[in-house]
Amino acid sequence: MDRIRIRGGKILNGDIQISGAKNAALPLMIASLLTGKTLTLRNVPRLADVNLLLRILRNHGVDMTVDGKRAGEDGSLGETIHLSAATIADTTAPYELVSRMRASFWVLGPLLARCGEAKVSLPGGCAIGTRPVDLHLMALEQLGGKIDIEAGYVVAKAPNGLKGNRVVFPKVSVGATHNALMASTLAKGETIIENAAQEPEIGDVAACLVKMGAKISGIGSSTLHVEGVDELKGADHSVLADRIETGTYAMAAAITGGEVTLKGARADHLDSMIAALRQAGVRIDVTQSAMRISRNGNRLYPINIETMPYPGFPTDLQAQMMALMTMADGVSTIRETIFENRFMHVQELARLGAEISLSGDTAHVKGVHKLTGAQVMATDLRASVSLVIAALAAEGETVLHRVYHLDRGFERLEAKLQGCGASVERLAAA
Ligand code: UD1
Repeated sequence: MDRIRIRGGKILNGDIQISGAKNAALPLMIASLLTGKTLTLRNVPRLADVNLLLRILRNHGVDMTVDGKRAGEDGSLGETIHLSAATIADTTAPYELVSRMRASFWVLGPLLARCGEAKVSLPGGCAIGTRPVDLHLMALEQLGGKIDIEAGYVVAKAPNGLKGNRVVFPKVSVGATHNALMASTLAKGETIIENAAQEPEIGDVAACLVKMGAKISGIGSSTLHVEGVDELKGADHSVLADRIETGTYAMAAAITGGEVTLKGARADHLDSMIAALRQAGVRIDVTQSAMRISRNGNRLYPINIETMPYPGFPTDLQAQMMALMTMADGVSTIRETIFENRFMHVQELARLGAEISLSGDTAHVKGVHKLTGAQVMATDLRASVSLVIAALAAEGETVLHRVYHLDRGFERLEAKLQGCGASVERLAAA
């Protein structure tokens, strides 16, 4: 397995191009199952999760082509992928594939809506809690699907098609909102989805579905109205900028000091994080198409945050914020309210010299004057990048093991950091 070696202590200065959002690209690709026509997606990040989903979609009968590199392109703007599901060859998503990435479970709603049946393995993915799928199943049942669990698979049937209904989520779920939204575009009649997740990635998928001919209103709010249509058509859509990647590099710049411009960043999707970083003493200048992060010698102040569904502080930036706070001047409090087991980075950060105590869903982070490089282990996607952030500021050398977690969600991480002067290098598996 590859490792990453980081020699800490370098101040970051320069530009980083923000990639397309993984969490939008995956459901956008899944939306191709809803139509027999071609869906063209631009700015798709080159990630292991994208490649895995392409395999899953291919297994359902989706034809795909990826545009080659064009003259003058440096590869920083992602790939253009054309997806055509003219006929669905197989409505089963097997355990071997779904167990490796949780978002692949979201094929359930589109397959059921288009084909009247689907058999999808119960998911796996990052080990950050039990992560049930009851809300997905509840929504699809309310749309008229008959759901059984058989030998680790969800078997869903709607031989006469899905029917619009009122779907009220008792708890906000990003994935269940995607599933319900995609399925309801082809259901008969009107669907109202209440307490829908409001993450920008859902808005991006909804915008693409509208281009495909879906009738959706309330986009960006917690109540989505969908008027079902008989069929959807093809579309051309560019994946929105990754707010989690943006926040991650903002914290990397903040911990090392210096000045980094995040090109293509959507600051309007990061209000809660920007507020927290400013409170911590980090300077953030926002322009139409970029964010400039700087902390030239200022001290870092401690902060108190709790993770919440959007527009609250994202759970996907909790580990990175904790890494930054390990070097603040005082004690920070970080409460995780979305996932119950999302503190696995704590013991690895401690190996670098961080002082963090846990009590239930809350971490108290006592800032230290210095971190020291060590061997550390990536445990999940966002946890692993928090170790990169801490390592950038640590004295000496850190070697990060199990790098495949990073490759799932961060495009060209080493190149982007090297471009700003960081000493980051991949050590290929022996
Ligand atoms: C998505 C994101 C992930 C992010 C998370 C929360 C993608 C590909 N993944 O994951 O990066 O961390 O949103 O912002 O976009 N829950 C249930 N029952 C369900 C579904 C969820 O109880 O049927 C619970 C979960 O256990 C969790 C909470 O709801 O406690 C939120 O999960 P959810 O929003 O569904 O996360 P994902 O869609 O899996």
